[in-house]
Amino acid sequence: MSHFEVIGGTLHAENVPLARIAEAIGTPVYVYSTEAFREAARAFRKGLEPVGRHHVAFAVKANPNLAVLRLLANEGFGADVVSGGELSRALAAGIPAKDVVFSGVGKTRKELHQALDAGIGQFNLELEEEGVVLAEIAHSKGMVAPAALRVNPDVDAGTHEKISTGKAENKFGLPIDQAPAIFDRLAKLEGINLRGVAVHIGSQLLSLAPLEAAFERVGKLVAELRAAGHTITHVDLGGGLGVAYKPEDVPPTSAAFGEMVARVTKDWDVELMFEPGRHISANAGVLLTEVLWVKPGVTNPWVVVDAAMNDLQRVALYDAYHGFASVTPSGETMVANVCGPVCESSDVFLKNREIDALKSGDLAVLQSAGAYGATMASTYNSRALVPEVLVSGERFELVAGRITAETIMGEEQVPDWLK
Ligand code: LLP
Repeated sequence: MSHFEVIGGTLHAENVPLARIAEAIGTPVYVYSTEAFREAARAFRKGLEPVGRHHVAFAVKANPNLAVLRLLANEGFGADVVSGGELSRALAAGIPAKDVVFSGVGKTRKELHQALDAGIGQFNLELEEEGVVLAEIAHSKGMVAPAALRVNPDVDAGTHEKISTGKAENKFGLPIDQAPAIFDRLAKLEGINLRGVAVHIGSQLLSLAPLEAAFERVGKLVAELRAAGHTITHVDLGGGLGVAYKPEDVPPTSAAFGEMVARVTKDWDVELMFEPGRHISANAGVLLTEVLWVKPGVTNPWVVVDAAMNDLQRVALYDAYHGFASVTPSGETMVANVCGPVCESSDVFLKNREIDALKSGDLAVLQSAGAYGATMASTYNSRALVPEVLVSGERFELVAGRITAETIMGEEQVPDWLK
């Protein structure tokens, strides 16, 4: 069920009227529902019940807020991190280091040290040289780094090209046909326990077919590696499950995903790992905003809101669709464009769409903003970094404050020679 419902004429997050949050915190502000995260997390785990031994690591990049990470840690989730900063967050949120997997195409030596010292569960290697360097660093510390090779299966995920990662021309993973030779060479090194493979073909997948094709290729590789004498105990199947942004989107359910994985992997005899991000968090958040002006346009009016592309970048970057609704819907509608105040023509959230009728001073929400929302925000145009609020039942709390231009200026200085 949705945890953002109109109750008594006004939109609530769980039992808190959004107007109350706007009044207390101001706008724009991200509002998350604890129950929505929990429900998605539990549904995902339940969907995986038919699957053999496995772990779930939340893709921290989707929503790295500490409170969100703690909430998911309480649900038994580990963390998939792609930077030293994300690792620090996962640990600070109480996720045990052994439940952390480190992905990413450009890990620095400093980050490899940090992750080894923390004792993380697995490094997903993107190239042979990274494995050599990791082995050297680990060996110099008297440690053995648990690692997997991330392969690129050359499968078209059928998603937006900017969030597709599993085609041969993408920067991610090793070409799957080169994996056996690279595995042979890296497995011989001291300082590394190369124990598995990893795959992730893209994000916002609305069909299971490309995932199944990729997993089948990985299954063949596992058999090939074993035939060559390697011990394969771990396979990381990544994230990528999509969610409904548009009313007509029909994303695969956690149950359908689990059934497919159980079928494809039934003879693998490995510990599986999953890295969902969007599927757990997208529909647990909205971006609450106030209408500043309704400005006449050539065909349709411009509803100018106080949220902008710096707060929610997905539309400007990927032409993404986000639902948009009034906090106090009257039942009347209007055909309009919705834009933010940033000085860019790409700061437009939607065009020529039928939306709830709105006027200056009204509150509205951009929906499905709990994944890749606040985490991608910037301070462009010297706007404040957007705050985040977590709701639980009747309670709400600020879980990330509004960082203003004044605070950021505190980190800047004018050199003496200009004074
Ligand atoms: N694992 C790896 C190695 C990844 O690269 C990603 C996402 C995930 C897991 C989580 O994928 P998910 O389950 O959330 O689809 N900013 C874009 C999405 C970028 C995704 C990058 N990698 C957007 O707003 O659509």
